[in-house]
Amino acid sequence: MNIRYDQPIPLGWFALEYSSKLAAGDVMPLQYFGRDLVLFRTESGQARLLDAYCPHLGAHLGHGGVVKGDNIACPFHGWQFDGDGRCRAVPYATNIPPKATDKQIVGSYAVVERNAMIWAWYHPNNEAPGFEVETIAEIGSPDWTDIEVYDWKINTIIQEAGENGADVAHFMFVHSSPEMPQGEVTMDGIRRSTLLLNKVPRINEAGETDDSGQDWEFIEVNSVNVGPGQTIQRITRAFEVVMMGTITPIDEQSIHLRFTFTVPRSQTDMNQTLAEATRDNIAGGVEQDIVIWNNKRYVENPILCDGDGPIARYRKWFSQFYAT
Ligand code: FES
Ligand SMILES: [Fe+2]
Repeated sequence: MNIRYDQPIPLGWFALEYSSKLAAGDVMPLQYFGRDLVLFRTESGQARLLDAYCPHLGAHLGHGGVVKGDNIACPFHGWQFDGDGRCRAVPYATNIPPKATDKQIVGSYAVVERNAMIWAWYHPNNEAPGFEVETIAEIGSPDWTDIEVYDWKINTIIQEAGENGADVAHFMFVHSSPEMPQGEVTMDGIRRSTLLLNKVPRINEAGETDDSGQDWEFIEVNSVNVGPGQTIQRITRAFEVVMMGTITPIDEQSIHLRFTFTVPRSQTDMNQTLAEATRDNIAGGVEQDIVIWNNKRYVENPILCDGDGPIARYRKWFSQFYAT
């Protein structure tokens, strides 16, 4: 197999799962960050993430492991581990072995729940979180609709998928935009904000897109990247849509992309229809990108032209997430 990407997995907060999918006592095997992992929710309701393999004799805690109080019990011989990766009980031994006493013996991850999702902090050198997951007030607010979710697994890396916003020229070729979007990009530490004015085919009152090539309108898209794993997009037309994009590295060659949408409940039926059509357009748009991403490779020293967007600036910004 050709290795198309040789970048390491970036550091940051990454979405693991929707909170509603993990009830108290649930155990879920996961594969992210090139690792086998186990996600579980304690009886008191805390989500915890550990490396999957038991240090006793190697069973996968995510396949048959059982939550007991704040701990997870291994399916093989019942050893129990807490969310910090310490052994708390060996049910059939008189003493916990000294090697397993009062120290971490299973890899663990900082976990937070925000915006209806469970997030873990990944750092290749196990350094503590350097920033936070941004709270999106609209998600979970009683004034906004229940979330609608989309997800894709793609053979690409976060840096490449994120370059999409900086690459203004591709909108004309991949997304049939009549012209390049006018963008304004601000980068500030781990945050990168883009205000795009994008000319798109008008959506009619039935929520259908006008394909005649005659009728256009402008859509204002305000995107904020918070680290490599979270994007917040606010779309304002006659209506409003809020989207949270999350990207989680599966391994060095593939990602899990999710879109979470909400719209104001108070929007008129007409604007609700338009907002839903816009949401479907966004999801359809990324599927056009996916065909490119699934098959391209990374060009480290691209030959760029004067019409290209701020790709070099974007790459410099992204490089802060590669630990040295
Ligand atoms: S392998 Fe986990 S308790 Fe033995
Ligand atoms: Fe795109």
